Amino acid sequence: MDFTRKLSFFVFLLCVLISLMNRKAETNRNQWHRLQGARRRELVGGESANVSTEASLRYDYYSDMCPMAEKIIRSAVRSLYNRQPSVAPALIRLFFHDCFVQGCDASILLEDAYGRNDTEKYATPNLSLKGFGEIDLIKSELEQACPGIVSCADIIVLAARESVLLAGGPFYPVFTGRRDSITSFYQLANEQLPNPQNELFKTLNSFSLKGFDAREMVSLLGAHSTGIIHCQFFSDRLYDFNRSTKPDPSLDPQFLDLLRSTCNTTSHPSSPSPSLPPSSSSSSSSSSSSSEDNSLPDQGMKMDYEGPGKSFGTLYYRSLLQGRGLLFSDQQLTSGEETESWVRRYASDTTLFQTDFGRAMIKLSSLQNATSSTGQVRLNCSRVN
Ligand code: HEM
Repeated sequence: MDFTRKLSFFVFLLCVLISLMNRKAETNRNQWHRLQGARRRELVGGESANVSTEASLRYDYYSDMCPMAEKIIRSAVRSLYNRQPSVAPALIRLFFHDCFVQGCDASILLEDAYGRNDTEKYATPNLSLKGFGEIDLIKSELEQACPGIVSCADIIVLAARESVLLAGGPFYPVFTGRRDSITSFYQLANEQLPNPQNELFKTLNSFSLKGFDAREMVSLLGAHSTGIIHCQFFSDRLYDFNRSTKPDPSLDPQFLDLLRSTCNTTSHPSSPSPSLPPSSSSSSSSSSSSSEDNSLPDQGMKMDYEGPGKSFGTLYYRSLLQGRGLLFSDQQLTSGEETESWVRRYASDTTLFQTDFGRAMIKLSSLQNATSSTGQVRLNCSRVN
């Protein structure tokens, strides 16, 4: 690890500890003793049943068996990103969808041995995921360097961490030593991954079932500062919201025009064509993306409100305050008192957002499959050994 990364790791750890201490003081001073006794468990928010408390995850797990592992992943993600920046958001989203369903176990990558489309990857919320080919590429580099050592689950987590940095987000430390699942969770993925059309209480409930509170949820959604949202995920808001024959009233009118002009040809062919051109800060984009797989037929909006690689987060929250959230579920964050107060704070305090986001990403990457002790290190990420 070079000096800058070491330094940012220690600064980050310090921030995490300070923020933990503040939050504990606010809520329950007595828990401080438990924090001392189980510091690592607290770092990952270890009260939830889904969060690893006893697994053998540790910092720099591969330092003996494959000392170059993290470096190989870092430089592979960087070179993929240099060729195609859309790789970074694709890998961040892949990480979320893997970890949110039965923990970070690379179950998202599995294909059925008989070619049936009934693995997790084919669950409805996962049909628009990208980045599978990129994970395979990284895995093949690792297999050349140290065969059979680095799990696909760790590759997803480390590649997402690198992608967050490339997208302008914070560096955060992650533990490694995950095992790959031998099971895929198609049904659970359909049931547990949050729906973009959900109202706030449902989204809060999805996250709370995984052990995340409102603050952590709002900070995680800051990941929607980067990447693309295709029209199919918000077109219902543009003309006939909830069968009202009117657009979603929470949408800023100018932004509504922009979205209509971006999506109108494919998503609502009969609608009048608007005259407003896409603004420079949130330009429209075709969906074609480097990251192979399930590319979608329609247009979409880029979410890098601040331009690629610029500081990550603040403008996403400011956009929500202006009624410019792309997904209904994003915009809903401003409809509840507590979530709205976090949106306001993150909109004006980048450091607070980056600290909270990094902390929540550590927690997300620590969600574990209860059966991971029976897992394996897959040789090919899409198949069990
Ligand atoms: C309520 C929770 C969430 C919902 C409903 C949701 C839904 C979506 C949808 C519908 C898209 C657009 C996909 C497309 O058009 O191809 C998207 C993109 C994305 N999401 Fe989420 N998401 C949620 C939470 C998260 C979280 C927690 C993260 C990461 C920590 C995340 C990271 C991303 C990223 C980076 C993209 C852009 C992907 C790309 O450009 O390839 N999302 N999300």
